[in-house]
Amino acid sequence: MSVVVVMGAQWGDEGKGKFVDLLASKADLVVRATGGSNAGHTVWANGQQYKLHQIPSGVLYKGTLCVIGNGVVLDPEKLMEEMDYLEAKGVDLSGLRISAGAHLVLPYHVRLDGAEEDRKGANKIGTTRRGIGPAYMDKYARTGIRVVDLMDRDEFLSKLTAQVEAKNELLTKIYGLPGFTVEEIAEPYLAYAERIRPYVANTVELLNDAIDAGKNILFEGAQGTLLDVDFGTYPYVTSSHPIAAGSIIGAGVGPTRVDRVVGIVKAYTSRVGEGPFPTELLDEAGSRIREAGHEYGTTTGRPRRVGWLDLVMVRYACRVSGITDLAVPHLDTLAKTGIERIKVCVGYRLPDGTVTREFPVGLKALAQVTPVYEEFPNWSFDPAKGTPRQYEDLPEGARRYVECIEEFTGVPVSILGVGSERSDAIYRTSFFS
Ligand code: IMP
Repeated sequence: MSVVVVMGAQWGDEGKGKFVDLLASKADLVVRATGGSNAGHTVWANGQQYKLHQIPSGVLYKGTLCVIGNGVVLDPEKLMEEMDYLEAKGVDLSGLRISAGAHLVLPYHVRLDGAEEDRKGANKIGTTRRGIGPAYMDKYARTGIRVVDLMDRDEFLSKLTAQVEAKNELLTKIYGLPGFTVEEIAEPYLAYAERIRPYVANTVELLNDAIDAGKNILFEGAQGTLLDVDFGTYPYVTSSHPIAAGSIIGAGVGPTRVDRVVGIVKAYTSRVGEGPFPTELLDEAGSRIREAGHEYGTTTGRPRRVGWLDLVMVRYACRVSGITDLAVPHLDTLAKTGIERIKVCVGYRLPDGTVTREFPVGLKALAQVTPVYEEFPNWSFDPAKGTPRQYEDLPEGARRYVECIEEFTGVPVSILGVGSERSDAIYRTSFFS
């Protein structure tokens, strides 16, 4: 048995969905423990595309239990949409389990998220406007409403009444926006409660029992290291912990139970939202990567900012999460761009001319670094040979690229992504017995 955490080592959108889906084929349980409907995981399976937001990607395998942990901020309205979408595609949801301890995203959180972004104007964070920040604010202010409350009509109405009163003060007096009535939230939410009820469980017991019983557990990370509220490019971050530790606190299992931490590193870098991005490409090369990689947000549809692979950042992610294995998707995407020389950032030049491998803490310092690049000739996969199936089948340029990642980070690249289908992956190790 194994407990494996899969997490993003960049700014999210690394292609976690694909690897989670691949590893989920051997997992008994797949767990989402952080973030909320801000996440968008795209998975290609059986020639169909699936876009997932809150439900773990393991749902595509019959018989796999899919847990939404206490660390998630759950938007029941969006969950209903996602359940409808999956059911319409014939996906069986009977394995879904929702933690009674997860906090809820309520309509006032969504309105407050947008209001605060609009108030910030040019200084906005560029959030997904899904109410994530305000929902976590309530959690940490100890004024949040949880799934367990939603399951109890009286408890829910009492907490909701107090919150609507407080949030209306903010919305009307600070932001000049309309408030909510208790009824307009309570009526749909109490209906959602009945649809959710069969799936609500004590997921701490469920998960710990499963580990004790020797099951294979996969933690599906959301967002990425540089969006972590503690370790990311603050304040241009999300309000949760996408790093590996976030998965365990968001699920209620101890750190000693985790066997492997897989960091997903896209072969280039992308980010959505605002904030400094040292290796960003604003030229033709950037457009080519964006088009080849379909770099448009799953949740918002926004074009993503793209740039070269930044190993200073990836090395930092490896340290913060104790990453044991790297997985590198999108090698085929770089091949498809036809760009002649592919660059990789292997150091930051500081204003005084010195070069460092350290990722700085402050945004001002990050904005002042100049990337130091190593260059690689582009590689193309020989169409006559089809999609590479083994590491040795990769063109030499691609292998040198992978070896550069391993040397710089000190972490083995254990899985490579060479296409969008489930089978388009090369494993150099096995994860679940
Ligand atoms: P929020 O999570 O909606 O509050 O957004 C905060 C920051 O995180 C913004 O820059 C978002 O674009 C970014 N973000 C949130 N979720 C994702 C994701 O799943 N992928 C990439 N960026 C994300």
